Amino acid sequence: MNTLRPEQSMSIIPVGEHTWAAVTATSTYLFGVETDGEDTRVVQWYWGPRLPEAALAEAARFRTPRSGSSFLDPRATDELLPVDGGRRSGLPSLQATYEGGVRSVELAFTEAVPGPGEIELVLRDKTYGLRVGLHVRCAEDTDVVERWVTVANEGTAAVRFGRLDSGSWIVPEQRAYRYTAVYGGWARETQLQRAELPVGETTFTSRTGTTGHRANPWIMIDAGDATEESGEVWTVALAWSGSWRLTAQHLPEGDVTVTAGFGHDGPSWHLAPGESLRTPAVLGLYSDGGYGAASRAWHHHVRRHVLPTPEEDRPVLYNSWEATGFDVTEAGQLELAGKAAALGVELFVVDDGWFGARDCDSRGLGDWWPNPARFPDGLTRLFTEVRALGMTAGLWVEPEMVNPDSDLYRSRPDWVLHYPDRRRDTMRNQLVLNFARDDVRAWATGWLDGLVREYGLAYLKWDMNRNFSQAGWPDAGDRADMLWIEHTRGVYDVMDELRRRNPGLRIESCSGGGGRVDLGVLRRTDLVWTSDNTDARDRQAIQHGFSYLYPANVMSAWATDSPNPHTRREVPLRYRFHVAMAGTLGIGGDLTRWSAEELAEARDLVAAYKAIRPVVQRGRLHRLAGVPGRAASAVQYVLDDRVVVLAYNPFSLDKRTPGRLRLAGLDPQAVYEVVTSEAAATAPEGSRWHGRTLMSLGLILPTWSPDGPDYRSELLELRRVEAS
Ligand code: GLA
Repeated sequence: MNTLRPEQSMSIIPVGEHTWAAVTATSTYLFGVETDGEDTRVVQWYWGPRLPEAALAEAARFRTPRSGSSFLDPRATDELLPVDGGRRSGLPSLQATYEGGVRSVELAFTEAVPGPGEIELVLRDKTYGLRVGLHVRCAEDTDVVERWVTVANEGTAAVRFGRLDSGSWIVPEQRAYRYTAVYGGWARETQLQRAELPVGETTFTSRTGTTGHRANPWIMIDAGDATEESGEVWTVALAWSGSWRLTAQHLPEGDVTVTAGFGHDGPSWHLAPGESLRTPAVLGLYSDGGYGAASRAWHHHVRRHVLPTPEEDRPVLYNSWEATGFDVTEAGQLELAGKAAALGVELFVVDDGWFGARDCDSRGLGDWWPNPARFPDGLTRLFTEVRALGMTAGLWVEPEMVNPDSDLYRSRPDWVLHYPDRRRDTMRNQLVLNFARDDVRAWATGWLDGLVREYGLAYLKWDMNRNFSQAGWPDAGDRADMLWIEHTRGVYDVMDELRRRNPGLRIESCSGGGGRVDLGVLRRTDLVWTSDNTDARDRQAIQHGFSYLYPANVMSAWATDSPNPHTRREVPLRYRFHVAMAGTLGIGGDLTRWSAEELAEARDLVAAYKAIRPVVQRGRLHRLAGVPGRAASAVQYVLDDRVVVLAYNPFSLDKRTPGRLRLAGLDPQAVYEVVTSEAAATAPEGSRWHGRTLMSLGLILPTWSPDGPDYRSELLELRRVEAS
């Protein structure tokens, strides 16, 4: 399922007059312009399994019969960009207010502008000079259809947008509708939820100015019968790191649409004559292989089209945050660096507390020079030593923030989000710098670039630790609300410019843990900090939800201390590592307190990770079975001939543990040999199995047996030795 063959054409092809098909390896997305005499609508005709070319035209003629009641108007239920206008009463994707308070948008189709693998359908409101460009692009070598909208004010008066989504998607008619999404909070991000989609409007949103912890901008919809390995699944995801809104509309008449875009209820965008605005991309993906295949198709897309450095295996890093908190000193860091290097760590990252007067969270943010008391000679000696130990160097930064108690705030109090006559509420004792402002962007680019060059940094952990409040931009007049968009664009611009100037630089996106994880930030970062919660058991549930959209190589995961500093839970070192080894492994514990035995075990586990790293970071993921973090579970990665399995059993009294671990995604006829096994009794190294046996009968794992202590885990590697 979703196996992509490069020779297959993936493009936008015309199908008769004013109808086009976006054709991917396994899916077809059919859309066109329909004019009914008084109004023009751009309509989705079809979105599902790939249609034979000969069937495209007939699919475009297909219409769902509608009731004739005057109260029921089909408008807005099959449109790519339903507007607030005419007889529509469904949820609009575009809501504009023209001069004099006129709110009914009336668009007419004017032209189609084809480009390579894409098309722009241009519509205009002639009375008010609004030009709307509806863009559809077919990403090469993936099943993703990408869409966005451009608006341009060609009139003589300002236009204000209450909603300007990137596009609406129509889920084809099903017997029933079920959605899958994630929710969360600080230290409990990406918790999976799956339920019947209620009739009504179900909105997932962030009003924080960032992607947020409470939800993540994607949704999957199926007919209630999809499983991990089978069934049709439609996904919609938004590539944006500021406030956002995604609404699944389930009409009483049956139709289901999903519209998504930047912004949230309240702020509106002001477009003066001559100005234009482009939305972020919204991506749609159809998959017929269940949630597993949908996730693999997303991972493939992220690696192929989103990440700046997909081909690089991420280094094993050490980060000092949990070990030292704000107590950062040269001697302390050097001690940790020595121990980290001995474990095989490749990148040493100094977290918060190295700069300004930052010895706690109430001062120093904004003063981005080494703390003179802690690093009287700067950071050069520390990082020279780090490099001498064979590691590269990284630093934590929080460029969008300032403590009121800082030199920066004392000199630039106007740089923060604020209204002149309102309080400036702090959170974590900090205020938000307005990255919509050119001078703030230039300042950030300047010091960040200087820091990277001066210390030869290979890595920045870019953090963002509070929500927007009192989000005013006094100099901007009618455009002030644009800061909700422009702040995020400012962050993107600074990151892009830093990477342009320093091609070797890699960036980790962090926002109080996993508060800024999305397809927008991943265009300019290499991985994300998944959660501040490093408790292995909690992490399993977080990583499970995370894996629905995002691949393992962007999932930063550390092995830390036991008891865990957040949950006080005690978990064996091996289990902690095995959970972190399911993503990009890092170490975040206080190594000065690890015993010689623990350090030796950790060194072996780091070496084991490096051996399987390409398979984990670049392979196809199969979530095998179980309830991650609650009962037995396992994840499997396949890359070419290599198969890696990480199996877990946190709670031996939970008798839901399956007896056998059945693998997935193998060649049934081929023979696989066990090359690394910690389950010697049942699957010893050197033993050989047919793919079919492994997938249908499965292996008996000691880890999964109901008798034994809590927190058993194991690593298994197989290699295909005889092709079918
Ligand atoms: C946030 C991050 C942590 C750490 C602290 C430092 O909470 O998520 O990993 O960097 O900030 O203050």
